[in-house]
Amino acid sequence: MMGGGQLGRMFCHAAQAMGYKVAVLDPGEPCPAGVVADRHIQARYDDHAALDQLAAQCRAVTTEFENVPADSLNYLARHCRVSPAGSAVAIAQDRILEKAFIRETGVPVAPYVDVRSASDIDAAPAAVFPGILKAARLGYDGKGQVRIQTRQQAKEAFARLHEVPCVLEALQDLKREISIVVVRDAGGRSVVYPAARNEHRTGILAVSSVGARGDDDRLQEQASEMARRIAQRLDYRGVLCVEFFVVGDEKLIANEMAPRPHNSGHYTINACIASQFEQQARVMAGLPLGSPDRLCAAVMLNILGDVWFGGDANADRREPDWMSVLAEPGAKLHLYGKTEARRGRKMGHVTCLGATAAEARGVAATVARALHIPFGN
Ligand SMILES: Nc1ncnc2c1ncn2[C@@H]1O[C@H](COP(=O)(O)OP(=O)(O)O)[C@@H](O)[C@H]1O
Ligand SMILES: [Mg+2]
Repeated sequence: MMGGGQLGRMFCHAAQAMGYKVAVLDPGEPCPAGVVADRHIQARYDDHAALDQLAAQCRAVTTEFENVPADSLNYLARHCRVSPAGSAVAIAQDRILEKAFIRETGVPVAPYVDVRSASDIDAAPAAVFPGILKAARLGYDGKGQVRIQTRQQAKEAFARLHEVPCVLEALQDLKREISIVVVRDAGGRSVVYPAARNEHRTGILAVSSVGARGDDDRLQEQASEMARRIAQRLDYRGVLCVEFFVVGDEKLIANEMAPRPHNSGHYTINACIASQFEQQARVMAGLPLGSPDRLCAAVMLNILGDVWFGGDANADRREPDWMSVLAEPGAKLHLYGKTEARRGRKMGHVTCLGATAAEARGVAATVARALHIPFGN
């Protein structure tokens, strides 16, 4: 596993449950996956001696970290099976390549332009204002993004981003956000999970829900078809998440993709027959894909470091009220073993389960109250 964060940790749990041993390569010490892996190689992602060591110890390699150098994956692929391929990861980690790629598949994206110099902003069509200037590389959780109203503001924002390559994308009037996790194996077979409905707070995923009845069935079908199409055109092997905006008259546009399991797919651990992490292991090992079928309704609440401050900006750090969370029979608590709670840092999540969407929301409301997490209706 390239990367030792929480996604790697949850992968370790799934792969080890199937009897596999896992080695994690990550520069950090300690790191969430490193402490549960059978082996932690503490090294930079481009350290060839460490990559050789990983390749010698592993039959198959994957990634949990979006910004792992594609060259390192290509290097590893000379020695062992690598999924997803470096070529697919290279596209997903660069918004300029990613948007062009998605658009070429025929899946709609928001109007946008590539910005490599200030003159690209001068030449940009009116349709991208007001907009969001997004650094092409290394952004996550809303970082590396600036909302702008005018051309002048876009130029200022570009300067503030140190003139790194960007995309300038039209601000969309979002009705909702959904995401689809698709899993595709080496033989081109694919399975798609139920769409999660996502709510973000300050650019970070806060809540993902599945299982609400009604209007989402048609969108689910369309989004699944689009996600499958993107995976197929990428000749993708592994777990891929595609984020969508629902705009206007229930129209879908693709926002971005992640070449790995996704935060909005954590509900699959507790609510589906096979989790997204189990699927990652299955694809790596060349096993049949598991069933993505959902067994119940679920609402996932992310637990950020803010929870240790009890929602009070000036409070001292204190242990959250896990007793109340765990007193809820439908609540499944996951903590990532990070030692220091910092504001905005993903520390864990709770998946709230119920036979119906209303029941799952009821559990989530209680859990959110106990943790001082805002949770609306
Ligand atoms: N064009 C847009 N219009 C409106 N909201 C947007 C737009 N682009 C991004 N956002 C909001 O910002 C969030 C983060 O943006 P995203 O492009 O997904 O970057 P990140 O890599 O940080 O997840 C989105 O989930 C959405 O809520
Ligand atoms: Mg995103």
